[in-house]
Amino acid sequence: MIGRLNHVAIAVSDLTSASALYRNALGARVTAPMALPEHGVTVVFVELPNSKIELLEPLGAASPIAAFLAKNPSGGMHHICYEVDDILDASARLKAGGARVLGDGTPKIGAHGKPVLFLHPKDFNGTLIELEQV
Ligand code: CO
Repeated sequence: MIGRLNHVAIAVSDLTSASALYRNALGARVTAPMALPEHGVTVVFVELPNSKIELLEPLGAASPIAAFLAKNPSGGMHHICYEVDDILDASARLKAGGARVLGDGTPKIGAHGKPVLFLHPKDFNGTLIELEQV
């Protein structure tokens, strides 16, 4: 059901310095910051030849990554994103198998303008999984 790895996301407390670290120390191409109020984050993408790294900074008081950063003040790996062809079909199959889809279970529009949803980390080996329809 899942296809390519779309991105790995890292939560950071300071997006400007994290972007500079990837740009300068690692010599990577980094996109301009993009605010996603519906997701409570500001993101940039580090563009790699075979995938992307998403750097996430909290946006707003109710950011879903605030608690994660409180526990991991220097930042850390937050989620991985797999591509799927049909997100509603994927969601239905996962729910039928007992997996928990986060939120109200309805896909939201993600950072690439495509529908995404998240699966509970306790159902997937302690890893928060994002599915993105491509
Ligand atoms: Co993501």
